[in-house]
Amino acid sequence: MRVLNTPELEQTRGCVLVPTMGALHGGHASLIQAAVRRARIEGVPSAVSIFVNPKQFNDPKDFDTYPDRMGDDLAMCSDAGVDIVFHPSVDTVYPPGEDVTSNVIIPDVASKPGLEDTYRPGHFDGVCKVVSRLFDLCVPSAAVFGEKDWQQLQCVRTMSKLQGRELQIIPAETVREESGLAMSSRNLNLTPEARAQSVAISKALFASSSVQTPELAESLMREMLNEGGIEPEYAVVRPADTLMPLPDPATNPHVPCRALIAAKVGGVRLIDNAPWTPIAYA
Ligand code: PAF
Repeated sequence: MRVLNTPELEQTRGCVLVPTMGALHGGHASLIQAAVRRARIEGVPSAVSIFVNPKQFNDPKDFDTYPDRMGDDLAMCSDAGVDIVFHPSVDTVYPPGEDVTSNVIIPDVASKPGLEDTYRPGHFDGVCKVVSRLFDLCVPSAAVFGEKDWQQLQCVRTMSKLQGRELQIIPAETVREESGLAMSSRNLNLTPEARAQSVAISKALFASSSVQTPELAESLMREMLNEGGIEPEYAVVRPADTLMPLPDPATNPHVPCRALIAAKVGGVRLIDNAPWTPIAYA
């Protein structure tokens, strides 16, 4: 495995890339395994980027407390058979005095009301900028993104299309702990009490398909979260690709929908989502 701090296009061009901010966990392991498998089939290198992107943190405390586990991360990548780890500095990604993000198009799906942009304004501007830069610096043929960050996945997919990149975006299913809690680097910051409490999030998401309308599903999720002592930022059902606010899914029962939740538990912000598939809408 090679660790690159500066871009070397002859090494990475055509790779299957997994962009990460490090603190790798079981969820990343599944993205990385998917990338390594795919890269082997295609006969191209597999690459993991590790870069904590300052532009996507609107809360400086969140950036400062973001876990740093470089040693463990490199070991996980090496064990998984990754060919290249790209670990650039901030100045490599954003060279001072150069406008390297003028080609970035922030898609509409980034700013749907009531979702991430309402609670983390500008977050997806930062995500789109760094992902676009990583694509410019590595020139991958495919990139793997987790479904846990559902809105991010839609943003990256749309941005890449709008930029006319010849690049496949591969979604990878959310990996969960036995309790149902979606794996996330932020779980490291949960106290045992908060960890136990946070299980209400996945329970509410899975229960949401037991009722027949998006409105009922949203009330059920809120009720279950409140019972678990959680006041969510949002607990909504939206069309899976556009994430338009309701009543869009109700007017077209055949549109695939997603239930999405964000909540702070013990001061740690968690997000999760699941397909919303009640029988009447299936
Ligand atoms: O999902 C993440 O870890 C980040 O948002 C990403 C895609 C690596 C961009 O910094």
